[in-house]
Amino acid sequence: MGAQRVAVLGGHGKTGRAVCSALADRGVDALPLGRADQPDLAGAVGRCDAAYVIAPNLHPDEPAHVASALSALRAAGVGRVVYHSVASPYVPAMPHHLGKAACEDLVRRSGMTWTILQPGAYLQNLDLAGPLDLPYSPDVPFGFLDLADLGRAAAVVLTEPGHEGATYELATRVATVRELASEAGVEVRQVPDPGTHPWLSAMFAYYDDHGLPVGTRVLAALLGRA
Ligand SMILES: NC(=O)c1ccc[n+]([C@@H]2O[C@H](COP(=O)([O-])OP(=O)(O)OC[C@H]3O[C@@H](n4cnc5c(N)ncnc54)[C@H](OP(=O)(O)O)[C@@H]3O)[C@@H](O)[C@H]2O)c1
Repeated sequence: MGAQRVAVLGGHGKTGRAVCSALADRGVDALPLGRADQPDLAGAVGRCDAAYVIAPNLHPDEPAHVASALSALRAAGVGRVVYHSVASPYVPAMPHHLGKAACEDLVRRSGMTWTILQPGAYLQNLDLAGPLDLPYSPDVPFGFLDLADLGRAAAVVLTEPGHEGATYELATRVATVRELASEAGVEVRQVPDPGTHPWLSAMFAYYDDHGLPVGTRVLAALLGRA
């Protein structure tokens, strides 16, 4: 039977809200948890039969954060975990991706029934309401993911059988930023990296050379799309 009550760790952020909303659409009780719930996470997840684990953006030690979450889930008797990873987690040039690769290993060895989702870059990261300044090439391919699709896919794996032990790469469409900007009728230009965080600089450098391509077939199959 699918989960009836799901704890969504990191549930108040944009990812978590998409997951909670899609679970609610399926009649599942979603419990969003945030920073205030950290001191007694095991108590907070007590009546949940599954958890969706989203780590904070650019956490300095995501494996330690996830290890502590997994141990709270185990202590509370939560039997099922879905971990929100990233597309291409094992990329030595991107430290925060490598952190998620280490977390995937922790999840697979957690003793709980697990599923891992590897989302592409969110379509919603791009503000296409006006001219776009981009710190990497606008002409490299990405597998972009609509956050509503991410929520739907999370709800499917949490409520339907057959996804235990699975790792799924998720993208709604493959495009370059220039193609998206052109569809939206806005200009895009490449600007220097603002240097706000060394891990973001490493990511922009990788994007500049390679983009982050992700296939779309897995998401289509999960959502029953042609
Ligand atoms: N953006 C993308 O394209 C993309 C693609 C793939 C994967 N991801 C991954 O998605 C994840 C979530 O991103 P997001 O943009 O949804 O984040 P977000 O909107 O910033 O939400 C962060 C959530 O994490 C919680 N949080 C922050 N610091 C915490 C801490 N120290 N301990 C416990 N909870 C904490 C926040 O709790 P409060 O409610 O208490 O503030 C909030 O609920 C990240 O791991 C990111 O790498 C993003």
